[in-house]
Amino acid sequence: MKKIGIVNGGGDTQAMNAVIASIVRTGVNRDYKFLGFIKGWEGLLDNEYIPLEVKDVRGISHIGGTILQTTNKGRFAAKEGDGQTRKIPQDLINLAKKNAAMLGVEAFIVIGGDGTLSGAQQLVDQGIKLIGVPKTIDNDLSIVDKTFGFSTAVDIVVEALDRIHTTALSHNRVFFVETMGRYAGWIALHAGLAGAANAILIPELQFDYKNLVNFLSWRKRIGKNYSIVVVAEGSRAVNEDFVTNPEFTAAENRLGGISYEIMKRIERMSPGEFEMRNVILGHTQRGGTPNAEDRILAKVYGTSAIDALDAERFGHMVALVDGEMRTVPITDVVSSLKLVTDEDLSLQTARKLGIYFGEEFNS
Ligand code: F6P
Repeated sequence: MKKIGIVNGGGDTQAMNAVIASIVRTGVNRDYKFLGFIKGWEGLLDNEYIPLEVKDVRGISHIGGTILQTTNKGRFAAKEGDGQTRKIPQDLINLAKKNAAMLGVEAFIVIGGDGTLSGAQQLVDQGIKLIGVPKTIDNDLSIVDKTFGFSTAVDIVVEALDRIHTTALSHNRVFFVETMGRYAGWIALHAGLAGAANAILIPELQFDYKNLVNFLSWRKRIGKNYSIVVVAEGSRAVNEDFVTNPEFTAAENRLGGISYEIMKRIERMSPGEFEMRNVILGHTQRGGTPNAEDRILAKVYGTSAIDALDAERFGHMVALVDGEMRTVPITDVVSSLKLVTDEDLSLQTARKLGIYFGEEFNS
């Protein structure tokens, strides 16, 4: 019976419990035994873990968060600044290897996004056997069609937009609704399209303040006294930097606050023209019950991780590519982020519908 360590890392997402449960349920039938490490790699470094049997994962798939808890940017953080790779100190890798050997853990299943998987690759390079499982609400992992958590996060933003629409309309206000997503605009784009935003600002398409003001003024002139602008947290104006919280010392920049910056800047440029409010949806997008799509996706990924383990596809990640389950080298996945491009059907659809993306506007 092989002993397998389950490690989840990075920010939590909906359906993490569903993926853990499906790994355990499938794995025990194929003669694997599982240890779940608490708070990601921190649990391996500190020898904090729990045995995971079917009885431990019963009835958890519909619950948000993760029963293993998680750490974002812990000692194994492999990204810093604007996403540059950081080398994990050798003594930590040695400690992880020593503890794994002591516990008799032969291989790991690592559930994570870009940061966690970048760290995992450094362990693979040093002989640790592991299989990756993609997870992030940001949907920014290259190669994979979709990661679980994304669909629920979009649902949450859409619900918020539906609610903001009615209050914006009642007060004739301009609302800037800020979403998560780091350097990718997927959540903002999908939620903005589904939630009938008037404008969407995403990191991939830098905006110009003068054009944005022209657009909002034009809406007023044509009798649309309210506007909803969805703003991805990684959006930025041309030639300007990301808005981060510099007072925090997180290894990687902590994005957030661009919606407030935009509001302040517009007020300075055009005093009193618009009554504005900003709403930062923040971690509501990551919390709570996963929707059906994310539960199914997590179950597909969890069971496929056991197939990959049987096939000894170490150093690979299970990936849904064009609707088919494959395994792809983790190095290929973490070498770049999946960003919104002009070819994306949602972006093209939004443009055809007249949603504004911060480009030139002179009407
Ligand atoms: O990567 C997922 C994500 O939720 C991002 O969208 C967001 O920028 C970040 O994590 C926030 O992380 P933290 O857990 O450090 O607040």
